Amino acid sequence: MEQPARLLFLGDVVGDEALTRLEQRIPILRKDLGLLAVVVNGENAAGGSGLTAAQFHRLRKAGVDVVTLGDHGLKRREIVPLLERGEPISRPANLPSQAPGRGWAQTELAGGVVLRVVTVLGRVFMKPVDCPFDALDRVLAEMGPGPGITLVDLHAEATAEKELLGWHVDGKVAAAVGTHTHVPTADERVLPGGTAYQTDVGMCGSMAGVLGRDPAAVLRTTRTGLPESWSLTGGRIALSGALIEVDVATGRALGISRFREEGPG
Ligand SMILES: [Fe+2]
Ligand SMILES: [Fe+2]
Repeated sequence: MEQPARLLFLGDVVGDEALTRLEQRIPILRKDLGLLAVVVNGENAAGGSGLTAAQFHRLRKAGVDVVTLGDHGLKRREIVPLLERGEPISRPANLPSQAPGRGWAQTELAGGVVLRVVTVLGRVFMKPVDCPFDALDRVLAEMGPGPGITLVDLHAEATAEKELLGWHVDGKVAAAVGTHTHVPTADERVLPGGTAYQTDVGMCGSMAGVLGRDPAAVLRTTRTGLPESWSLTGGRIALSGALIEVDVATGRALGISRFREEGPG
């Protein structure tokens, strides 16, 4: 068997400082870790909510192959034309049928390997969306069995729902890994059918705050019920994700490990 392909999936990028760190580190990580692909969830890049067109292009220039989104993904309307022209952005597949873009993203990697990425939103403790199980079935059927590597971003809050979604696609995709909670879980493993799974890969953002935001402001809102805008915290940027090894010939995972890199500050 030829060498397994190594893919790095990084969780929610919270703010521009984290994005700048990714710009510095991704080219180095691609080389040092021998990565075939890098996928990043960018739903919180624009001041904590959404992704700007300029930020998408910065991520691509840094060496990101596909950017995934989540429940905050469409907050910046400027992302719509990029979705409509088929840029490698994976917006949730279980949005309303009139949502811009399509249910998965596709790109070609070195050596002609096709990478396809699907994102679904959970329904537990989140705004109402279509059934993520049905959406995955529909998108995987649309894609067909084709060669290459398929990754799923499970953008959801509840652990059990994410695990169930992982089991639902076991044997059909290389990996199904979670985002949205911003906190990595210690349950990474390859399921029996060959799908790498982790409930949440964590975030790329400041460890000086609450999920990347100013703790004092979040506490005030929580204790007084008075809404206010929550600024992002800076410094102590950690990059969190999952390193996934895939047998390209079968499209199944051989291993998954947690990835974590803390910067200075
Ligand atoms: Fe989210
Ligand atoms: Fe997020």
